[in-house]
Amino acid sequence: MRSVKYSGAGAASEVIALDDVAAPEPGEGEVLVKVGAVGLNPVDVKIRAAAHDFGVIRYSDRPGWDVAGVVAAVGPGVQRWAEGDRVFALAAFPDAAHTLAEYAVVADADLAAVPDAWSTAEAGAAPLAALTAWQALEAAGVREGQRVLVLGAAGGVGHLAVQLAHARGAKVVATASPAKHDLVRDWGAAEVVDYRDDEALAAVEPVDAVIITVDDTLPPRQAVVDGTAVITITGLTEEVAQRLGSWGASPVSRILVKADGAQLARIAELADGGDVVVHLDSRFGLDELARAQERVESGRVTGKVVVIVVPEV
Ligand SMILES: NC(=O)c1ccc[n+]([C@@H]2O[C@H](COP(=O)([O-])OP(=O)(O)OC[C@H]3O[C@@H](n4cnc5c(N)ncnc54)[C@H](OP(=O)(O)O)[C@@H]3O)[C@@H](O)[C@H]2O)c1
Repeated sequence: MRSVKYSGAGAASEVIALDDVAAPEPGEGEVLVKVGAVGLNPVDVKIRAAAHDFGVIRYSDRPGWDVAGVVAAVGPGVQRWAEGDRVFALAAFPDAAHTLAEYAVVADADLAAVPDAWSTAEAGAAPLAALTAWQALEAAGVREGQRVLVLGAAGGVGHLAVQLAHARGAKVVATASPAKHDLVRDWGAAEVVDYRDDEALAAVEPVDAVIITVDDTLPPRQAVVDGTAVITITGLTEEVAQRLGSWGASPVSRILVKADGAQLARIAELADGGDVVVHLDSRFGLDELARAQERVESGRVTGKVVVIVVPEV
């Protein structure tokens, strides 16, 4: 089967290659997936450039974490899937997985059934970003009737955070550049603010929760009041945490997404209910992975970048 292999640290155009290797075999509790589509995330490109672990996030020269496809075989002890089932997953994260290949082995516990409402490309693009959004909203305790500010609403995580918060019955306030405001409203935001417009940012009224998806970005001061939960998926220094705490924010925390097939199944239910769409910024073939990663590296992605591995899946 065709599989991606990195040759070391460096630029996408220099270190990404395809080679031919034997397809893996599923072990106990594992499923062999014929891979249709794989989403790309900033962590894929950051870890490729560095070629070493980032804390608990494992580097592998055979990369890929997101996946959607069909079950090709099941290992011993796997009861709930049969050959041909449409499945998707965030595989193993933050451990290494190897989904950028024509076949991938995925733990049963990481898998969920692809919602009927989503294409294979949409399902492959979603898992890491959708689970991050879900787990951030859980950490913030977002519930019906609350006001939630999503900083970076047009990106992979942000566009799903807007929709999942809206699906919980929250009123979503979002930041995005003006060209993306209509889309962000379509995803369910009640208010959209240009992140470069200081006056508009200063007019955002207090919120119950803030989800930060953009590096080095803080919510506007007046939006944070006693008890505002601030959850970031980017870096959080002790100094920034203390400053947010001095504004009254509580809790203040950084989360790292974890693979979770059960949560993915709940997101799939919302998708089938029409509450969550995956916006595809762009699609690339497996042999165009370097260009796909460069698109993610641009930082300008709207929604998700997806790699189509076996087109007929
Ligand atoms: N902790 C975790 O578990 C976890 C999980 C997933 C992602 N992450 C991290 O979270 C970050 C976001 O991930 P992602 O996949 O959502 O990234 P992404 O899809 O690459 O985000 C790109 C989007 O960010 C927008 N943006 C850039 N600067 C902005 C600003 N100052 N204010 C508002 N929007 C801005 C861009 O809009 P414009 O083009 O209009 O500027 C673009 O639409 C990355 O650093 C990633 O590594 C962490």
